[in-house]
Amino acid sequence: MWRQLHFDEGEVRCLADEQARSRRQSELSSLVEHEHDVVGLEDSKLSLVEQLTGGNNDQRTVIAVLGMGGLGKTTLVGCVYNSLQVKKRFECAAWISVSRDTEQIDFLRSAAAQFFKEDESDTDEDRAMDLSRLARKIKKLERKIKNYLQQRRYVLVLDNVGDTKYAKIIGAAFPDNDRGSCIVITMRLKSVASALAHHTHNLECLKPRDALTLLCKKAFLK
Ligand SMILES: Nc1ncnc2c1ncn2[C@@H]1O[C@H](COP(=O)(O)OP(=O)(O)OP(=O)(O)O)[C@@H](O)[C@H]1O
Ligand SMILES: [Mg+2]
Repeated sequence: MWRQLHFDEGEVRCLADEQARSRRQSELSSLVEHEHDVVGLEDSKLSLVEQLTGGNNDQRTVIAVLGMGGLGKTTLVGCVYNSLQVKKRFECAAWISVSRDTEQIDFLRSAAAQFFKEDESDTDEDRAMDLSRLARKIKKLERKIKNYLQQRRYVLVLDNVGDTKYAKIIGAAFPDNDRGSCIVITMRLKSVASALAHHTHNLECLKPRDALTLLCKKAFLK
C-alpha cells in the first residue's frame, strides 16, 4: 500500500486512494505477467530493485530499461514496481504507459490521478479547448504535480517512451527533489535512453534454456 490507512477525516480520501490504486493495479496487471509466469528475469529484477532502493544517494535517479520490442521490458519493470521493497521505499507511485498518440494533458492527468487523485474525467472538454487555454491548464497541472511531489519520495514509471520530448515534460512536472526519488523509463531506442536517463539497464535476450522454458509455457500450458 502506498499510503497508510487512517480512520479520521482522511478516511474517505484513503478509500478513494485505494480504489484508484486498485484500478491502476488491474490496468497494470493486464500489461504485466503474473510474477510466477515470468522466466529468466530474476537477476535483472534484483539489480533494478537494488538500484531503486539500495543507495544512500538522495538525488533523483532516472533509469532507462532499454531493449528491442517484446524483450520483456514492461514485464521486468512491472515486477520491480510491484515488489515489496519498492512499495515500502516510496511514498507515492505512478505508472504511465505512453504511446505516440499520448497528449501531454492526458499524460499529466494520469500522473495527477495516481499521485494525488486529481479528477481525470474531463479530457473531452480539454480537447475542445483553445490552445492558449490548454497551455495554461498544462502549466497549472505541471505546477500542481511539482508542488505535490517536492516533499515526497516518489517513483514514476514511464513505459514505452519513444521520444526525447519527454525530457522537457519530465523536467517541468517531476522535481529533482533530493529525496531519493526515481523515474524508470522503458524504451527501444538508445538515443532516447541517452537523452533521458542517468543509467541504462540494457535488457539482454533470455538465455537459451529460459527462452525454451518460456516457449513451452506459452505454447503448451495456456
Ligand atoms: N521473461 C519473460 N517471462 C515471461 N513472459 C515474458 C518474458 N519476456 C516477455 N514476456 C512476454 O512477452 C510479451 C512481451 O513482453 P513485454 O511487453 O514485457 O515486452 P517489451 O520489451 O515491453 O516490448 P515493447 O517494446 O513492445 O513494449 C508479453 O506477453 C510478456 O508477458
Ligand atoms: Mg513494453
